[in-house]
Amino acid sequence: MADSASDVSVLFSPTRLGDIALANRVVMAPLTRDRAIEGRVPTPLAIDYYAQRASAGLIIAEATQITPLGQGYLDTPGIYSEAQVAGWKAVTDAVHAAGGKIVLQLWHVGRISHVSLLPEGEVPVAPSARRAKAQTFTAEGMVDVSEPRALELDEIPALIADYRTAARNAIAAGFDGVEVHAANGYLIDQFLRDGSNHRTDAYGGSIEHRTRLLDEVVNAVAEEIGAGRTGVRLSPVTPANDAHDSAPQPLFERAVARLEAIGGLAFIHVIEGATGGPRDNIAFDYAALKAKFSGPWIVNNGYDKAMAVAALTAGKADAVAFGRPFIANPDLVARLRQDAPLASFNQATLYGGGAEGYTDYPALTAEAVN
Ligand SMILES: Cc1cc2nc3c(=O)[nH]c(=O)nc-3n(C[C@H](O)[C@H](O)[C@H](O)COP(=O)(O)O)c2cc1C
Repeated sequence: MADSASDVSVLFSPTRLGDIALANRVVMAPLTRDRAIEGRVPTPLAIDYYAQRASAGLIIAEATQITPLGQGYLDTPGIYSEAQVAGWKAVTDAVHAAGGKIVLQLWHVGRISHVSLLPEGEVPVAPSARRAKAQTFTAEGMVDVSEPRALELDEIPALIADYRTAARNAIAAGFDGVEVHAANGYLIDQFLRDGSNHRTDAYGGSIEHRTRLLDEVVNAVAEEIGAGRTGVRLSPVTPANDAHDSAPQPLFERAVARLEAIGGLAFIHVIEGATGGPRDNIAFDYAALKAKFSGPWIVNNGYDKAMAVAALTAGKADAVAFGRPFIANPDLVARLRQDAPLASFNQATLYGGGAEGYTDYPALTAEAVN
């Protein structure tokens, strides 16, 4: 029988997610910080910010748009230009030098955008021309998102090609892989759900049709960089960004079954419940979802050390992603290991700005540990 010490050690034991070897099971969840500089290049401060957090088993870097049309918030970084690739390369080099692993979250916001953030004359694109009941962060502060237009059927191959190119760019930038962002009410999630997808073509209507874009995007990315470097994030019951569906359980079970059929994906990463909110907002059988996939499974949302150890010990997950705790605790892994107190972050410096509230949260000092 395992004693409690060995139960806890599961959180700090190595594992593999596809081709990516992790030193421990503590994953840093993707966190948008809105600090990109001119040209939507990651801020040079991100070099330190991510290197400070390199003791995570894996860092999932912040959501990063695959195309200018995929941007939905002020000053988020991209992965479609040479300058962006060079900016990210400095980040991945620093994380690797510090012994960490890092993948990039590939993002297209779809209808969660505002015309002021998009190239001149463009409006947000979506499965259907239905505006979300949601707001976004612009130069003018929080504003309602703009009315989108429906993507034409013949635009979808170019969209998939954008994901493919972004994945190739991520590898050129030194990332260990990518996470396709199919969660939180953004473009792929908008296609998945019947609350936002009212199409009548091959990408709308039945569950089979609504899971097609996810399948095609992940297939393309996996073909480009290898399935073992390709992960996917899902959020079956989050209401984030006006996401909703009449029947999430069969929808997401089919989505995961299609991902399983691709074969050898690095991981699926599931947000349980409402992102950053209640874990039980809508009843959902996560065990049934996990049963559809034979690869590594990451869980997220509201986890603390005890919950993480319990999930790993029960075989409900292979790794646990922590989001908010990483903001003010760059050395979260050490703090969890030592049962040290966790610092709380300053809400005012979350989005935008410079080093304050970004790279100036201290690691534990030797004194504090004693
Ligand atoms: C400041 C902030 C930024 C976030 N940015 C992203 C993001 O870029 N991509 C994403 O998938 N989720 C994002 N999230 C959601 C987190 O990854 C995570 O799912 C959420 O915080 C719940 O996990 P936690 O309870 O460990 O914080 C963000 C959350 C916060 C608080």
